[in-house]
This record gives sequence, C-alpha cells and structure tokens, in this order.
Amino acid sequence: MPTEIALTDTPEMTKEAVRRAVSLLKEGAVVALPTETVYGLAGDALNPEAVARIFEVKERPHFDPLIVHVPGKGQLDEVAEVPDEISAVVTRLVETFWPGPLTLVLPKKAAISDLVTSGKDTVAVRASSHPIFRKVLKEFNGPLAAPSANRFGRISPTSAQAVVEELGEGIPLVVNGGACACGLESTILKVLTGEGKPVLQVLRSGPVTAEELKPFGKVEQVTVAAEDGPEVPGQLESHYAPATPLRLLASPEEFVPEEGKRYALLSYRANEKDGYLDLAEFEKVAVLSPGSGKLPEAAVRFFFSLRELDGSGVDEIVAEPVPERGLGVAIMDRLRRASATRGRGQD
Ligand code: TXA
Ligand code: MG
Repeated sequence: MPTEIALTDTPEMTKEAVRRAVSLLKEGAVVALPTETVYGLAGDALNPEAVARIFEVKERPHFDPLIVHVPGKGQLDEVAEVPDEISAVVTRLVETFWPGPLTLVLPKKAAISDLVTSGKDTVAVRASSHPIFRKVLKEFNGPLAAPSANRFGRISPTSAQAVVEELGEGIPLVVNGGACACGLESTILKVLTGEGKPVLQVLRSGPVTAEELKPFGKVEQVTVAAEDGPEVPGQLESHYAPATPLRLLASPEEFVPEEGKRYALLSYRANEKDGYLDLAEFEKVAVLSPGSGKLPEAAVRFFFSLRELDGSGVDEIVAEPVPERGLGVAIMDRLRRASATRGRGQD
C-alpha cells in the first residue's frame, strides 16, 4: 500500500490531516508526524500492538526504549512518577522548556508497558511544541510513543520526503508539516538529587544546551562507553550514519585525498579561510550555514545536508568540525557517531 502524504498548506487541509492521523492512531496504526526537532513515528503508547509496530517499521532492536509524548506538564503524571526530591527542579524545567525539545527520563508509571521502556523502570517523556503534533495529541487524547522516523541507526528525517525515503511503504500516512525548526533530536536529561543542587545528566545533547540548563543544577555530560550501549542505545557509538562512509576532520592538515576516490564535503560555512574547500576536487559541497556560520542554522540543515551528500554517489563524505559550544555540542556529537563505523572490518 503506497504511503499517503497529507499536506497542511491551509487550515482545512491541516484539520483533515490531523483527523486522518488520529483515526489511524485509534486503529493501532503508526503514522509519521512533524515535530520541531525531527519527524516522529507515532503510535498509541498504551497499545502493545502499535508499539510493536513501531519497532518493526524502524527495524529497531527491542533493547532501545521509545520516547513518550504528552501535551504538557498537566499530563506528565499520567506516564511518570516524579520523585518528591526532584519535583521542584522538574517543575521548573518543564515550565521553562515545555513544550519544546527537552526530554526527561523519570521513573515510569505502571500504565507504560515494559515494551515501550525496553524493560527499564524509567520512561523518557517529552512535550513537542509543533502545532500539528500538538493537535494530534489533543484529539487523540492519550500519550503517543514516537521515536525518530528513520530506520535504526540511520539519519534522522527532517522532512516528509526524508521519512518516505527512510520508511518507504511501511507506514500508511506521513503528515507533511514542512522542514523541522530545530533539525536535531531533543536534549535528553536525567535529573538526580545532588549535594546542594540537583544533578542534570545530559544523556543526549540537543537543542536545549548545557548553558541553558546551568541555572537549574549541576550539568553533567554523560559519555557512554560502548559496552554500556544498551543503557542509552541512541547514544551507541555508531548512529545517525549515512550509507556512505563519513570522515570527520579535526583540521584541514589531516586530510590527503586518495587518487581516484570521489569526495563530498560537509562544510560549516564554506569560508576559504577555514582551509577545507580546496582540500580536494569535491564532487559536491553542502554548506550548513554560509557566511559567518551560525550554529542554529547549521543544526536545521544538518541531517538534510547529510542525507543530500549520502545520495550524491561519492565514495566518502568529508566533514568539517563546527565550533563545539552551544548547539555545536549536539552537532559534533552527531558527526562523531555518524563517522564511527559499525564494527566494519572487525569480522
Ligand atoms: O526529538 C526527539 O526526541 C525525537 C522526536 C520524534 O520526538 N525523538 C527521538 O526518539 O529522537 P528516538 O527514539 O530516536 O531517540 C530516543 C532516545 C533513544 O536513544 C533511547 O535509547 C533513549 O531516547 N531513551 C528512551 N527511553 C529511555 C530511558 N528510559 N532511559 C534512557 N534513555 C532512553
Ligand atoms: Mg532516533
């Protein structure tokens, strides 16, 4: 069955798209919806068949838990149990960042099955700010499980077209809400009690930056060792990977092109002075933020550009580093994982 793409160009079209999405979700089907970060593959979080279908469509291993989406603070306690010791800081965080790209890992309520959380006693909860996602949640009137709408380990989709490329005919409906405003997946945070002030463990860096979180507690960046992979599986060493090998450079000097090999360049701002543009006869150059280089613009274009270069037929994608501050931390995290090979050459 071909995937239906519902457009949202007018209020009437949006209404119809939302109605279609809700009706499919009520039947237990999964549908792709836009969020402000990346497109999500949504299903009824309380329906085991819908949850199983999400894993199947994404070819996602069952050890990798799903994010549960709620409209906002008022519905948080339907899915999570906020311990008293951290309830003050959790309230401040959700009042500041929700709806928006912040996911909180909290002890789960019994209503959320082990299937959703991969057997963990915690659940990842988020409230998207995307108007279409919010409309669907409101009409559906229950929590939705929604991981990024890509096959496991691959590039996250930031457009409806990218979802179709990723999931093909595996899903009945994609609601086209245009390009995603952030372009990178939400920041995932685990809140713990600390001495004097709460500890905010960043399990995945994202649009809500460490700088923005600092007023709320002691921010710790969690680096996940490979053997801990299943703890935070989206943080596996190799993730967000294009099919084409990707090499992340630390400086222009470390790159020497090989004879006969075809290269594409993922450039931060296409500035001659940075020294990357002339390194090879690049078949294709994608620029994240032309001119002076702005990290929010680079974030929006990141997965889109990576996907574009992946489809260009070159032998290798060469990536420039971006400044590792603010949103640049999340971009560099994705670049490092995209450049890590999945144990290739080891077996
Ligand atoms: O921006 C986003 O968060 C997007 C949009 C669609 O909402 N969703 C998203 O979901 O990125 P997904 O499934 O691609 O990534 C969720 C990550 C995974 O790495 C998963 O391992 C982690 O969250 N996760 C989920 N539940 C967890 C838990 N209880 N403890 C630790 N990590 C968890
Ligand atoms: Mg994902």
